[in-house]
Amino acid sequence: MEYVGLPHDPAPLLHDVAPAPDEAHDLFTRVMRNVELWLAYNVVHGDLSAFNILWWEGNVTIIDFPHAVDPHVNPNARDLLARDVDNVCRYFGRYGVRADPVRLAARLWRRFLHAEL
Ligand SMILES: Nc1ncnc2c1ncn2[C@@H]1O[C@H](COP(=O)(O)OP(=O)(O)OP(=O)(O)O)[C@@H](O)[C@H]1O
Ligand SMILES: [Mg+2]
Repeated sequence: MEYVGLPHDPAPLLHDVAPAPDEAHDLFTRVMRNVELWLAYNVVHGDLSAFNILWWEGNVTIIDFPHAVDPHVNPNARDLLARDVDNVCRYFGRYGVRADPVRLAARLWRRFLHAEL
């Protein structure tokens, strides 16, 4: 993974910036698309929140994967996924994004179980 930011000025955490409402929806979609992609490759981040997302030049980069788990073997994976999705929805909810984290996580998990991702 490459460094994100300027040489002496690393990209800020999403937690420390305030996206405009029209931008927030697009960023939310990108983060959730990442969650879906990881799951398709048997990864649940496990510590996803605005503290582990960098914001740079209008894009997001997710960091801090040491807590990641394999949903095929980790019995807590479904709960971790739900918490990740909830954290993301909670953050973006403050910037006008309306999403139902319980429904989103349940749908992702169902598609994972049925190998539909
Ligand atoms: N600007 C950046 N560009 C690229 N990677 C980064 C950047 N900032 C942090 N990272 C990567 O993300 C990892 C975790 O950084 P982070 O700041 O989230 O650590 P942390 O919060 O201390 O860890 P934890 O959340 O587990 O306590 C770093 O080890 C680094 O590899
Ligand atoms: Mg961190």
